[in-house]
Amino acid sequence: MKTIERMESQVRTYSRSFPVVFDKAKDAFLFDTDGNRYIDFFGGAGTLNYGHNNERMKAKLLDYLERDGIVHGLDMATVAKVELLEKMESVILKPRNLDYKVQFTGPTGTNAVEAALKLARMVKKRSNVISFTNGYHGLTMGSMSVTANAYYRDEAFINRSDVSFLPYDGYLGKDVNTAAYMRRFLEDNSSGVDIPSAVILETVQGEGGIRVASDEWLREVESICREYDILLIVDDIQVGNGRTGHFFSFEQSGIKPDIITLSKSFSGYGLPMSLLLFRRELDIWKPGQHTGTFRGNNLGFVSATVALDYWKDDVFSNDIFRKGAILEKRLEALKEKYPQLSAEVRGRGFIYGFSVPEQEIAKEIADECFKNKLVLERAGARNNVIKFLAPLIIPDDALNEGLDILDAAIHTVLNAH
Ligand SMILES: Cc1ncc(COP(=O)(O)O)c(C=O)c1O
Repeated sequence: MKTIERMESQVRTYSRSFPVVFDKAKDAFLFDTDGNRYIDFFGGAGTLNYGHNNERMKAKLLDYLERDGIVHGLDMATVAKVELLEKMESVILKPRNLDYKVQFTGPTGTNAVEAALKLARMVKKRSNVISFTNGYHGLTMGSMSVTANAYYRDEAFINRSDVSFLPYDGYLGKDVNTAAYMRRFLEDNSSGVDIPSAVILETVQGEGGIRVASDEWLREVESICREYDILLIVDDIQVGNGRTGHFFSFEQSGIKPDIITLSKSFSGYGLPMSLLLFRRELDIWKPGQHTGTFRGNNLGFVSATVALDYWKDDVFSNDIFRKGAILEKRLEALKEKYPQLSAEVRGRGFIYGFSVPEQEIAKEIADECFKNKLVLERAGARNNVIKFLAPLIIPDDALNEGLDILDAAIHTVLNAH
């Protein structure tokens, strides 16, 4: 840790929340250099849906490396890429009746968001984009301009024009339909909100504190987009790849986005990879017009191809819903057991938030969990939402063990106050 503190920039974050040196990881567990085992409810911030060092993917990756399969090839055609695209088509797109083109962007989520915004503006020839309160889309300039959280925006001194923020579902209270509010802004050409090229949203806001948009709201936003000829971008970087129980987070609402951003767990193994899916007609790029050295990580193609096998039938999906029900039930029970916390439980599928109004208490609970070898992070603009993002493959006993640690941590923290 001393080396990290001496050498690594102040900007580091997770090494502060989890101040040990990690060495190994397997499935839903991390191990530090002293061999201590930690239960992972953090899941690489949504990158490890299939667990750490997934055995099926590891075997394929080792084979690929052993036979000197091409690792870096810019966006050249490779066997690994062809296999992934074919699997994507047969396992994900065709069964869902989705006819999308695939664009591999730079390696991290924000690169996919940048490309999506650029494409939408090019297609519609309009500069404005609508984004929502508490949304998080990354921290490069374009992505940051559609990110709401003041912590990230405050000191950036970027030009934030060309983005209008509107209230997300629930922002004005349970009974206010914020989609109707959006419609009003668009129909009135003196509202000050220009008709945008795109609306960008998360169906469940992850970093924003696990805020779940209702299916009706998503459908209404989609129909407003159709009415006003606006592209709908669903940023599925955090809550896609099965996190909500379906491969895409928007599936249960029945909406069909024009553009989808994917990253994080898409490669399955924690290898950097980001992509866009978009309607075929939107593919107006000229060759190489949006380029970059690290587009399409061949190792990522190999592991992603294995990851998609989890979606060949409903077995995995059903298991995610089953585990999600356990998690929700136990969090609701903790809320009842500790009424003094005034906690709120939010989520769906296997992403949940336990929102504790007092920010300091949330921090103390997370720290106490870590002391007892449970890794979890906080989210929300005030960092007061304890976030559950365990790998989707976590065994029930580890899930329950982690929740027991949380229960004991809440007890300890409340007793100390
Ligand atoms: C919804 C969403 N979009 C975009 C991003 C940015 O991804 P990255 O951190 O890989 O750039 C994130 C990261 O948490 C995210 O949750």
